[in-house]
Parts: sequence; structure tokens; C-alpha cells
Amino acid sequence: MLWPVLLALQAVCSSVADAMQHYPAAWGHYDVCKSQIYTEEGLAWDYMACQPEATDMTKYLRVALDPPNITCGDPPETYCALENPYMCNNECDASTEELAHPPELMFDFEGRNPTTFWQSTSWKKYPKPLQVNITLSWNKTIELTDDIVLTFESGRPEQMVLEKSLDYGRTWTPYQFYATDCLDAFTMEPKTVSDLTQRTLLDIICTEDYSRGYVWKNDKTVRFEIKDRFALFAGPRLHNMASLYGQLDTTKNLRDFFTITDLRIKLLKPATGATMVDENNLSRYFYAISDIKVQGRCKCNLHANSCVFDKGKLGCECEHNTTGPDCSRCKRHYHGRAWSVGSYLPIPKGTANICIPNNHGPVHRANASSLGVANRNQARVCDNAMLRCQNGGTCHQHQRCHCSPGFSGVLCERARCQGPGECEDPLSGRAAARPRGAGRWLALAAAAALLQQAASLC
Ligand SMILES: *[C@@H]1O[C@H](CO)[C@@H](O)[C@H](O)[C@H]1NC(C)=O
Ligand SMILES: *[C@@H]1O[C@H](CO)[C@@H](O)[C@H](O)[C@H]1NC(C)=O
Ligand SMILES: *[C@@H]1O[C@H](CO)[C@@H](O)[C@H](O)[C@H]1NC(C)=O
Ligand SMILES: *[C@@H]1O[C@H](CO)[C@@H](O)[C@H](O)[C@H]1NC(C)=O
Ligand SMILES: *[C@@H]1O[C@H](CO)[C@@H](O)[C@H](O)[C@H]1NC(C)=O
Ligand SMILES: *[C@@H]1O[C@H](CO)[C@@H](O)[C@H](O)[C@H]1NC(C)=O
Repeated sequence: MLWPVLLALQAVCSSVADAMQHYPAAWGHYDVCKSQIYTEEGLAWDYMACQPEATDMTKYLRVALDPPNITCGDPPETYCALENPYMCNNECDASTEELAHPPELMFDFEGRNPTTFWQSTSWKKYPKPLQVNITLSWNKTIELTDDIVLTFESGRPEQMVLEKSLDYGRTWTPYQFYATDCLDAFTMEPKTVSDLTQRTLLDIICTEDYSRGYVWKNDKTVRFEIKDRFALFAGPRLHNMASLYGQLDTTKNLRDFFTITDLRIKLLKPATGATMVDENNLSRYFYAISDIKVQGRCKCNLHANSCVFDKGKLGCECEHNTTGPDCSRCKRHYHGRAWSVGSYLPIPKGTANICIPNNHGPVHRANASSLGVANRNQARVCDNAMLRCQNGGTCHQHQRCHCSPGFSGVLCERARCQGPGECEDPLSGRAAARPRGAGRWLALAAAAALLQQAASLC
């Protein structure tokens, strides 16, 4: 009884493997927005979902500290090492370039030795908390593609929170809590990213992974793990990006989770090394950050493959007749149907969902009125504004629907691939070479869903 099931599973698994081999390089690129193709009617544009390349986003941010005068050096101070109060050779003087530690040094190139870093004043006012908010603002929605990594030069904070905003800093939500003792600091159970599952991916956790341990020289980094979260859908080496993209397409919460306009690092308590703070030598306690890594891409709703930094502002170079910093509107005169985000599916090129021209209303009305009202109503088969043509078909002069490849019927209501035989193998080379269209979209969306299920079984 078990054999047929096992064989079926094996077949699914090996076809998953075939499918994986089929688009190895193309997956996850989405770097082309349109290309010219030959059709029966001649040369035409083929539109694809596209997005800018992921890049180092720290080049485009604005940083603000709160309190604003929390940077060391005014007046000059001498600091002692956390692990050795007799080692006091760290001088900070804001008026001397070599001894100043301004915030920009968190984002400069760290190839050289010694490292350059931002440093706060010391914990002079102990036991009043030494707290600093570091806010990074892009004034643009961006999508994170890799871990956020902070490098601390003098012990990692005992308590901190990473927060994000999606509305240019108006509202904030936590991304992750960090503490040597999560219960004590935030009344949260300590967790690590490996405790998360597909279902709990969006949970906000408190982790002790980046605060514990006094061996601070060896581990200076604090991470927000983006890749481990991606891996819950895409597999350990992110080999099944189809599954991730499928999820991102259908789950707005998941997409929004990785999307930000601002980040805020709330430093709540500096490293103290021992359990007791040495009140006689508070020059040992401060924050120092040498590097912040934020990898991501401009969010362009899959309607642009480049994003430019112009006059201090990031903006998508919109295609598909869309406009706005995030390509989130149709251009003027291209409101033939409602704006829509592009889709990652079908793999590998996605669906562009371009904006289409308005009806040339006055022209048509002038001509149509001469036909008489009754006649016109009868003759009117379709209407772009009302989306009478289905499955991506477009209305031609109110007379007939031009269907997307793969569909037929007066209103493009019939999928051509419904019969047996013709479209059995949607992932074969033959299918991939066919013009892109809604038929393939459906077939591949189904295949992607199957892949996803199958991959979780294999
Ligand atoms: C940091 O921001 C929080 C809001 O999240 C605010 O309540 C707090 O006062 C700020 N801390 C400092 C030191 O400015
Ligand atoms: C920063 O400025 C505030 C008032 O604006 C002052 O109370 C505080 O002592 C200053 N902090 C430092 C470290 O200079
Ligand atoms: C901290 O201790 C070191 C070594 O005893 C000493 O040199 C330094 O002046 C002390 N700093 C303060 C602020 O007391
Ligand atoms: C943010 O961008 C908008 C344009 O999209 C601009 O009007 C505004 O001044 C920018 N804000 C800042 C703080 O740069
Ligand atoms: C709008 O899209 C059409 C194709 O539908 C294209 O030919 C045209 O160049 C685009 N117009 C603009 C202004 O981008
Ligand atoms: C009416 O339609 C004809 C083609 O059928 C076209 O040549 C003419 O320009 C149209 N009239 C107007 C006012 O646009």
C-alpha cells in the first residue's frame, strides 16, 4: 500500500530537482524590465517584473543621534579599557581630527588598521542610564536582502533594541531585542533565530546570542538575521528562491517585514563586563561602533531595475508606465486599469502588470455617436476601464478582446491549456521558450506552489 505513495513522492522530488536545474542562473535576478520580441504582428515589447540590484544601503542614509550631543570629545575625555581599568589610552577630542569619533565613522570603509569608530561619552552620570538612539533614515522604502550587522569596538551592549519604521519615522515597531538576560531586561523568553519556523517567522524575539560572553575581543558583532529568515522558505543555502518569491508575492505581511524606510538602534545599557559596575572608574563604560552593514534594494514594486541617488534622495527609475519614488502609481494617461504591483511569478521572469493607456474617450465617442446610441451599446463588446477582457486581455476599440497568449474566447475567458496533452510539461524548455503570457503564468504559479510543497516533503 505504501509503494505507490513513495513512488509518487519520489517522482515529485526528482521533478523538483529537474526544475531546480532548469533555471539555475535566472532565478532571483529580475534585472530586465522589458525586451523586444517578434510576434505574429511584428516587433513588440515584452514586459517583465524587474527590481534593482541589492547594494550597500549605508551610502544613502542620513544618521541622527539622540541625544544629539552624546558623541564623545566635547569636552575631551580619556577612556579606560573595559577589561583593564589601568589601560587608559583611548582619547577622544572632537576638535582634533585624529582623536574625534563622529557618527560618520560607523559607515566608512573598514579595510584599514586600526579601525575607525563612532564613540559615545562615557557613563559619567551613572546610575542614570546611558541611552542613545541612532536613527538611520533613507527617505525611501527599501527591501532588506542580507543581515544587518553592527560591529562594536568595546564590548557589545548589555541591552539594546533594533526598531524599524515603514512610514518615514512616524511609527516604529521592534525588529529584535538583545540582552544578556532577556527575562530581566524585557520580560521576554530568550530565543534564537533557529527557534523560528515558517509559521512564526514574523515573531519578534529577544536574543542573548549577541550580548553574552565577556570574550568580547573575539565577537564584536550584533546581527539581525535576514538570511536565516529567508532560509525558512528558500532552504539552507537559499537554493529554492522560487518558494521564497512565491511567499513574498502572496503574503503582504512577509513582504512588509523585510521592508523599511528607517532603522533605529536603541542602545539601552553599555557593556559592563563584570556584574558590578565600577563606580570609581566610569570611563570604562561607553558605546563604540565601527561599522554598520545594511544590504538592500530600493523597493520599486517590481517596476524598475535601477534606483538613482539624486540631490540626496533615492528614487526608482520607473518603467511599465508607472511613476513615483516607489513606482506605486500609473503615469498620467495610463490609467486604463488600476495600478498593480508586479509579480515574481512565474519564475523566472515574473509578470510586469504594466499600466495601460486610458481609453481615447473623446475620439471614440465622436465616432461612436454617429452610429447611434442603441447601435453603439450593442456593438460595445468590451471596455478597458471595466476590465471586461479577462486574464490580461486588452480591449481593442470596444469591439474585441486581444487575448494574452494562452487564452482565447470572446472575453479571453478560456485557457488554451485546459485540454490534456498540450500543456502537460510547463517547466520544459519548450514551455519556457514560448512567449510569456497568462497561460504560462498560471501553469508556473501552480508548479511553483507544487514545488514548494514538494520541497518541504523531500
Ligand atoms: C529614544 O527613542 C525613544 C522612542 O522609541 C524615546 O522614548 C527615548 O526617549 C529616546 N531616547 C533617547 C535617549 O533619546
Ligand atoms: C547635552 O545637552 C543637554 C542639554 O541640551 C545637557 O543637559 C547634557 O548635559 C549634555 N550632555 C553632554 C554629554 O554634554
Ligand atoms: C580609572 O582607573 C585608572 C587606573 O587606576 C586611572 O588611571 C584613571 O584615572 C581612572 N579614571 C577615573 C575617571 O577615575
Ligand atoms: C524626502 O523625500 C521627499 C520627496 O519624496 C522630499 O519632499 C522630502 O523633503 C525628503 N525629506 C527629507 C528629510 O529629505
Ligand atoms: C508607455 O508604455 C508603452 C507601451 O505600453 C510604451 O510604448 C511607451 O513608451 C510608454 N510611455 C512612456 C511615457 O514611458
Ligand atoms: C473615426 O474613425 C475613423 C476610422 O474608423 C478615423 O479615421 C477617424 O479619425 C475617427 N474620427 C475621429 C473624430 O477621430
